[in-house]
Amino acid sequence: MTDGQGQRGARRTLVTGGAGFIGSHLVRLLLARGDRVVVVDDLSTGRRENLAGFDDGSGRLVCVYTDLATALREQGPAAGAFDEVYHLAAAVGVRLVIDEPISSIETNVMQTAALLRRVLADGACTRVMIASSSEVYGKADKSPFSEEDDVVYGPTSKSRWSYACSKAIDEYLSQAYFQKHGLPAVVARFFNTVGPRQVGHYGMVLPNFVAAALAGRDIEVYGDGRQTRCFCDVRDVAQALPRLLESSACHGRVFNVGSDVPVSIGALADRVISVLASRSRRVLVAYDRAYGPGFEDLKQRQPDLRRLRSAIGFEPAIGLDQTIRDVASWMTGEEVIRGAVRSPSAGSRGAVAT
Ligand SMILES: NC(=O)c1ccc[n+]([C@@H]2O[C@H](COP(=O)([O-])OP(=O)(O)OC[C@H]3O[C@@H](n4cnc5c(N)ncnc54)[C@H](O)[C@@H]3O)[C@@H](O)[C@H]2O)c1
Repeated sequence: MTDGQGQRGARRTLVTGGAGFIGSHLVRLLLARGDRVVVVDDLSTGRRENLAGFDDGSGRLVCVYTDLATALREQGPAAGAFDEVYHLAAAVGVRLVIDEPISSIETNVMQTAALLRRVLADGACTRVMIASSSEVYGKADKSPFSEEDDVVYGPTSKSRWSYACSKAIDEYLSQAYFQKHGLPAVVARFFNTVGPRQVGHYGMVLPNFVAAALAGRDIEVYGDGRQTRCFCDVRDVAQALPRLLESSACHGRVFNVGSDVPVSIGALADRVISVLASRSRRVLVAYDRAYGPGFEDLKQRQPDLRRLRSAIGFEPAIGLDQTIRDVASWMTGEEVIRGAVRSPSAGSRGAVAT
């Protein structure tokens, strides 16, 4: 694939799913470091607005709004290699996977396979980051999860586990390409990532809570609310990704990426209410009502970050209260970028702010 610019010198980077939540924050960082970035996104859950104002007129950002399979097919076999590929395009979120199991499995498995095949055909020197998920650990009864732990899934009659399995296949593929062909690929297993531009339509907890709190509606907490998760700001997550690709010691390996500070979902609801001074109440909703009968959730999901810390010295810098405030600001029409508040309507050509 090519960016069609014919420019030389700057790093050439492909971000699949670049109009999505994590992808758009990553694109901003990559443009800021001087890359020429191609985004491929079918806008199934991503949004053009997520990249609004990123194009500074230099032609360093090219957006191809189509699905990855089509982009790979239509660009021809020898259209040119990228220096780095960040593969974030996927069917994301448990609810989406339960609602659309066939297309979700196909997207998550086949497009990753097609992408890796293409990168290899283009010369196998491209560094590739594959986005995976803490869901890969399944329902293993262990905490924290470290990368070499066993994984435990429920039966195939429960489509909830298909997301975990599809991401696990991506991980196998990525490591196989490294072992067989020396492809410098890294797997990032994201734990709960939160921040501005995340939308709640597909069952993401924080944007749903913040939207309810802003509207003064009841905040619905599934189950007994005592299940815990670790939330990391997307801006911290995004900056870890290029650093993982930079180091050859990371290639061929899997890394947990996120925060390791557990927060119960009930406490998260309380925190949102308090930080936003909302009049909302929190109410408990049975899992069966939220997801249908037989839904299995995990009591806790906490990463062991030792591998990530020792590889790149990762420490999240943005606290949860700040993230909650920034999500609320974004939802009410202001985009918050590292403390600087600007209105999306203010126009920002030329400003690849980080
Ligand atoms: N946000 C999290 O907490 C989290 C946790 C674990 C894993 N992940 C992984 O991180 C990645 C990014 O997730 P996100 O939270 O930014 O979600 P997102 O839905 O905002 O991003 C996914 C993007 O991929 C695009 N996309 C989907 N199918 C595509 C296709 N076939 N071709 C081209 N584009 C396609 C969507 O339009 C969207 O822009 C995903 O791989 C996801 O599985 C995210």
